[in-house]
Amino acid sequence: MKGAAVIGEGAFSADFRAELAELLRWRRDVRHFRRDPVDEAVLARCLDAFRLAPSVGLSEPWRLIRVHSEGARAAVQANFETANAAALTGYDGARAELYAGLKLSGMREAPVHLAVFCDDSAPKGQGLGARTMPEMRRYSVAGAVMQLWLLLRAEGLGMGWVSILDPDRLARDLGIDDGWRLVAYLCIGWPEAQENTPELERMGWERRATHVRVETR
Ligand SMILES: Cc1cc2nc3c(=O)[nH]c(=O)nc-3n(C[C@H](O)[C@H](O)[C@H](O)COP(=O)(O)O)c2cc1C
Repeated sequence: MKGAAVIGEGAFSADFRAELAELLRWRRDVRHFRRDPVDEAVLARCLDAFRLAPSVGLSEPWRLIRVHSEGARAAVQANFETANAAALTGYDGARAELYAGLKLSGMREAPVHLAVFCDDSAPKGQGLGARTMPEMRRYSVAGAVMQLWLLLRAEGLGMGWVSILDPDRLARDLGIDDGWRLVAYLCIGWPEAQENTPELERMGWERRATHVRVETR
């Protein structure tokens, strides 16, 4: 794209659209990171995804915490290990064996950790769009995370979204405000390898659908 896009001008070329589709195909959740640091300027450029993201009522309810100190990272790692061990008890036999062999977080190696919360009572936006469906604030945060994911991947960086956590314990450990709810715990860094297929698919856990099903009413 050259310069600012003007509506109706068709500013995005067919090549750009093809590359965007390729980015979506190639995105991947990354759990295997190299330990090399991430350039702060690149990270800042990607984090701009939040400023540009849509949000209900323009409430911008995301709250970002960089989890950086050794103590805070250790607390999150312990949280993950406890939650993951508990999750394993929910499976039996071959499924349990398969689960135990999955790598479900790259948080030990990832140089950047970002905890993304939703401020459920965000005053910005004056409640527009969230009266009957207050959960829209959290969906706004999840949507913004997706934008970050794509920008990071476009830079060659990897991101892994970790949800095997006790969110209350995590909020306590990080000293988070009462009204904030964890939406995403993100591990960011340089991927060890690029993969065309989801890791869970390669490991035999689940398969991606081959087409999108749309029903009509
Ligand atoms: C909301 C959300 C939470 C996720 N939580 C985890 C997680 O805790 N551990 C993990 O290994 N992957 C997690 N993932 C990644 C998914 O497993 C992954 O997106 C899916 O297997 C498809 O693979 P792909 O992202 O590489 O296409 C999460 C993804 C999303 C969107």
